[in-house]
Amino acid sequence: PRLSKLQEKSIVITAGPTREKIDDVRFISNYSSGKMGFALATSAAKRGAKVTLVTGPVHLPTPEGVDRLDIESTEEMDLAVKEHYQSCDIFIGAAAVADYRPANYVTGKLKKNSKTMEINLVRNPDILAGFSKQKKKHQIAIGFSLETAGNLDNAKEKLEQKQLDLVAYNTFDGKTSGFEVDTNILTLIDKHMNVYELPLLGKHEAAERMLDIVEELIN
Ligand code: C5P
Repeated sequence: PRLSKLQEKSIVITAGPTREKIDDVRFISNYSSGKMGFALATSAAKRGAKVTLVTGPVHLPTPEGVDRLDIESTEEMDLAVKEHYQSCDIFIGAAAVADYRPANYVTGKLKKNSKTMEINLVRNPDILAGFSKQKKKHQIAIGFSLETAGNLDNAKEKLEQKQLDLVAYNTFDGKTSGFEVDTNILTLIDKHMNVYELPLLGKHEAAERMLDIVEELIN
């Protein structure tokens, strides 16, 4: 069989949600299941890549041959990814990173003393953009662009803003595409503005098709 271009490549993949702690018993998070990131890790490992999967809390088994790092917060995910800035050939940001975290973390349990309460939030680092900013010529940055309502232009903007080599655009409809479900409808756009429209696929099949396109981006 033909050798995969991903053979021996170091790939870092982020997956799942992050948790931003409010106090010791509460957090802010989202519905990401991690399925897309884990599917990508599985497929990449099968193609002979050295895969590091940095994941938030999910209920998924570790794919065979994959080096898994479990983290909780965005800042922890950012630190774990930074460890691989130099050594990785490809970075895929498939995590649903929380954009904000509580400005103040309360030890113990926050008391309910008043009718309303406010939690101040501060922006989290953008892990993917951080990688892109410092990436060397040979390194490839890939991101997702999940939109509840939007069009391809949002994804193209993201491609440019975050200096990506490839962006996977998917609409969130809560049924066939997005979080928690097993299927996805992806449209991929590469840095040359080539557009690949994938049909409704299982996340494993979508991952395979996505990596075929990644292989075309190599060299
Ligand atoms: O800007 P937006 O959150 O829509 O971008 C989504 C892409 O950026 C995803 O690939 C996601 O993993 C990545 N991202 C990140 N760090 C953030 C926010 C998003 O790596 N703080």
